[in-house]
Amino acid sequence: MTKEEAQKRIEELRKTIEYHNYRYYVLDSPEISDEEYDKLFRELANLEKQFPELVTPDSPTQRVGALPATEFATVTHEIPMLSLDNAFTDEEIRAFDERVRNSLKTDHVEYFCEHKLDGLAVSLRYENGILVKGSTRGNGYTGEDVTQNLKTVRTIPLKLKGENIPPVVEIRGETFMMLKDFEVLNEQRQAMGQPLFANPRNAAAGSIRQLDSKITAQRKLYFMPYGFGVIQGISFETQESFLKQCSEWGFRVNEHNKKASSIEEALSFIHYWVEHRLELSFPADGVVIKVNKLSYWQALGNTAHAPRYAIAFKFPAEEKKTKVSDIIFQVGRTGIITPVAILEPVVLDGATVSRATLHNFDIVKQLDIRKGDVVRLKRAGMVIPEVVGVDMDLRTGKEQPLLPPNRCPVCGGPTEWDGAYLKCVNITCPAQLKGHLLHWASRDAMDIDGLGETLVDYLVDGNLVTSVADLYTLTMQDLLTLPRLAEKSAAKLYQNIQHSKDRPFFRVLYGLGIPRVGLKTAQALAEHFGSMDELLSATEDDLTAVEGIGQETAETIIKALQSDQVHKLIDKLKTIGLRMEQEQTEGPLKGLTFVFTGSLSSMSRAEAGQLVQSLGGKVASNVSKTVDYVVVGEDPGSKFDKAQKLGLNILDEKAFLDMVGKNEKSM
Ligand code: IVH
Repeated sequence: MTKEEAQKRIEELRKTIEYHNYRYYVLDSPEISDEEYDKLFRELANLEKQFPELVTPDSPTQRVGALPATEFATVTHEIPMLSLDNAFTDEEIRAFDERVRNSLKTDHVEYFCEHKLDGLAVSLRYENGILVKGSTRGNGYTGEDVTQNLKTVRTIPLKLKGENIPPVVEIRGETFMMLKDFEVLNEQRQAMGQPLFANPRNAAAGSIRQLDSKITAQRKLYFMPYGFGVIQGISFETQESFLKQCSEWGFRVNEHNKKASSIEEALSFIHYWVEHRLELSFPADGVVIKVNKLSYWQALGNTAHAPRYAIAFKFPAEEKKTKVSDIIFQVGRTGIITPVAILEPVVLDGATVSRATLHNFDIVKQLDIRKGDVVRLKRAGMVIPEVVGVDMDLRTGKEQPLLPPNRCPVCGGPTEWDGAYLKCVNITCPAQLKGHLLHWASRDAMDIDGLGETLVDYLVDGNLVTSVADLYTLTMQDLLTLPRLAEKSAAKLYQNIQHSKDRPFFRVLYGLGIPRVGLKTAQALAEHFGSMDELLSATEDDLTAVEGIGQETAETIIKALQSDQVHKLIDKLKTIGLRMEQEQTEGPLKGLTFVFTGSLSSMSRAEAGQLVQSLGGKVASNVSKTVDYVVVGEDPGSKFDKAQKLGLNILDEKAFLDMVGKNEKSM
């Protein structure tokens, strides 16, 4: 085939494919089978492979995803993407109408009613009808360039259809996942042991903000327009006519949108959808009422964060009743025993709920929730299902109050109260060990790819590991005895475990799973103390000197670090060769250790410590032979005496400041 012939066929194919795309995704009315579509697509892809110079950015083949990005570029929105004011009652909607009419000095305003789609807001820039940039809303002023990812969304035209093509138009709208596709995605993730998305919004946002657009391409995303940004060479009279044009350009426009000739009609639209929201196939968390006439928008203007021409009515969180078929106890990584209600499944705000955490025994007591009760359920912040009350009228009298277990439901070991929380105090409890192994393997800790729930169950139940340290003594032979682990995966897992020995100290610290020590705190501790030994000898006061650590956290950390079990684990990990020291910053003080005693006049001890670290030095809390300099301020403590006894180098504040180049002269 000559290049000219190829060009002609490619153009034909692109037109045909986009036409069928449109029929399938926008009109929901396909004309050809999936196989026929695939055949056309493959023919186009093959031709483009033969003639790569003929590939254009608007070709349907460009929807399948490009090479992974390392990060997204920032996009500045010339016209900011504002948010919307919220209303929760009819009165608030009527008050909005009154403000609008007063401000416009007119008795009568026409509105346009739309659903408030619950996905990710994006802006699509078309130049001469070709999609050139797609960006997220971000903070409204700057977002991220996610063009490659948005190109994979079949309801986003790569090229606008029809005649009326302006030189520039930015179409704004929502990218979202259909409710049924969301459920399927989560089922698949569950089967593969991947974390579930809390709701369709997170799923859509997570899919669009994927660095690898091939992953985005696998997610079933949709787009519907609701507004515009920059627009040149074309104008519209109403929101209604703008959306009609969008439809002609090839977008899928929400078919439920409706014009209302008064605010009362708009309220009917709201009332209807409050009742019928569950019939929608896409996620919506409310209704948006907009002044229809665009010339009024200008006159009404914006507040700091939202336009005055629109208001969002938020759907009330759905409440449903269901029966508690059982109450079970779950043991977490830190030994906390949590009561969980097992429910007869109900669909709540679009997702099936079959269990709800009851948090702790105080809450159980407060609600007086019992096995067999009919309870009212709500989603807190649309995410976590919560029991909000018990229907006492439906009690039969047979329901028994829930008693906290005396023994751990997993290991049978003793339990202890810690405020409202009941804890299993047996640190070798398999539930705790399993939780700890998963935490240890998690991305922020040791990042051991391939060590998921199923394998952890096998390792613990088969007595192959009794602590995270045992992971490092597992041999290939050990791994090959595990069910469902083929040789290749076993080898990979073995390698991943061994590689994880090289993780920096703060991640080891985080991985220990000390209560209240999240990643940030672990980082702060590692930076402040520089090594495990220093941290182990720290007092409560030393700990509270670290930014972000309060009294309670300090107490918890000390208690955890003093336990025999943790000591033993740290020793084992040290022997195995995990990092127990913060990597030192390069600088003039590299290799030198400082101790501070007494108060300094020009800065706090914590600041002085940070200064030393920023220059590559280390700060110790106790005087020993390994210390290079002891800096002595006003009213020094016993450390001064000890330093003198050991014959260490002693600096006063001025000498210290000279050394770090911070004396008055140089300041
Ligand atoms: S109009 C200038 N219409 O709601 C504001 N927004 O709170 C233009 N949203 O970030 C927004 N459905 O993600 C508009 N039919 C709709 C909408 C809608 C959902 C979202 C959008 C925006 C947020 C504002």
